[in-house]
This record gives sequence, structure tokens and C-alpha cells, in this order.
Amino acid sequence: MRLRGIFELIEKTEVFADIGCDHGQLCKMVLDAGKADRVLATDISKACIEKAKALLGDRAEYFVGDGLEPLGDIVPNTTVISGMGGNTILHILEGRLLPNLIISPQNDAHKVRATLVKNGYRIVEDKVVEERNKYYDILRLVPGTQTLTELQIVFGVYFDRNEEAFVRRLKRDKSKLTTYKQTPENIKKLQLITEVERWLR
Ligand SMILES: C[S@@+](CC[C@H](N)C(=O)[O-])C[C@H]1O[C@@H](n2cnc3c(N)ncnc32)[C@H](O)[C@@H]1O
Repeated sequence: MRLRGIFELIEKTEVFADIGCDHGQLCKMVLDAGKADRVLATDISKACIEKAKALLGDRAEYFVGDGLEPLGDIVPNTTVISGMGGNTILHILEGRLLPNLIISPQNDAHKVRATLVKNGYRIVEDKVVEERNKYYDILRLVPGTQTLTELQIVFGVYFDRNEEAFVRRLKRDKSKLTTYKQTPENIKKLQLITEVERWLR
């Protein structure tokens, strides 16, 4: 479901890069669907690139290194960075503006939204997918300007679309929070959830 959710945001393109491709599953989906002329599979781990090579053979090009560094001057038309923490994704981007970026941060999605919008991106898709009782944010960004409200930063740009996975996660977060100690931070989080619930009515 998670990789499928990412895959669905990838449109047919010339050069596609998966940064931190691990096993190469997403690259395989892109290749099998004929969605890219060139597929660049990169990872910081040589062992992961070996796994990807075993899966994809000569259908892809391989790069070992930190983030975008091993790509040198190549600017992919579409870049995916998924399955890493928000800070790692921000570190990889280091203020770089890519033409079409799809990310799935495993945490700190609010920080990623705020930082990337501040750095010249516009979020054009922002959804939640569920896989084995876990929830994942998936965003697509392009260069541009955007002003986000606090609710959009915390819950996603399209939180008011009332989508099933989003609503399920909201309910789970609310019931968890009500069992936690009522610190100012937790009280604030609950207040924000209540505001979102008003939008969803
Ligand atoms: C949990 S896996 C996610 C794999 C795949 N992207 C996905 O979403 O299923 C994280 C991968 O990112 C790689 N990785 C972590 N930090 C990286 C970095 N700075 N640059 C490139 N790859 C990185 C890891 O080696 C690992 O293969």
C-alpha cells in the first residue's frame, strides 16, 4: 500500500531517481509500468545497491552514496525519497529545488512541510496511506510558493478532504493522546485535533 501510494504519484517521465532505493522494489514498479526512460537507483549502502542490482539487472543505473551526491550534475525529472526520517530527507535535499519531488517521511512530516515550503517548494499532493496498521504521509512537491496554515503544516495540506486513512489516524492519535499526561504540548495537540474535527463535520 505504501509503495503503491508513492507509485501512483509518479507520472511518465524521462529520468526517474529513487534515493535510498534499498531493495529496488519501487524502481521495478516504475520500470515494469514503463513510467521512465532512465531509472537511477541510489543508496548510501552498497549492500542495498547489490540487492537492487539482483532485482533489476541492467534495466537501471546504480549509484552508491549520500543522498543526491552520487548523481553529480544529473537532475532527475522525478525524484523519490521515501522510508527515511524527516531530518534525513531534509539533509538529502539541503535546500536543493528539484523539478518534481515525491517524499514519504517516516516522522516529522510537519517539519518537512514547513521547511520545504520555506525553501521554495509548493506541495501539490499530500496524502496518508495505511499499511499493516501504520500510517505514512506521502507528498509531492514542485518549485513554487505556498502559504500554509498551522493545521496544514501539522495535518497535511488537504486534511479537509476527509479521506479514510487520514481520519482513522486522527482518531487513533486522539485516543492515544487522551491517555497521555496532559502536558501543554499534548493539550495543544488535542486542541488542534478538535479544530480538524470541526472541518471534517
Ligand atoms: C527503510 S529503507 C526505505 C527503502 C525505500 N525507499 C522504501 O521507501 O521502501 C531506507 C533506505 O534509505 C537508505 N538511506 C538512508 N540514508 C540515506 C542517505 N543519506 N542517502 C541515500 N540512502 C540513504 C538506507 O540505506 C535504506 O536502504
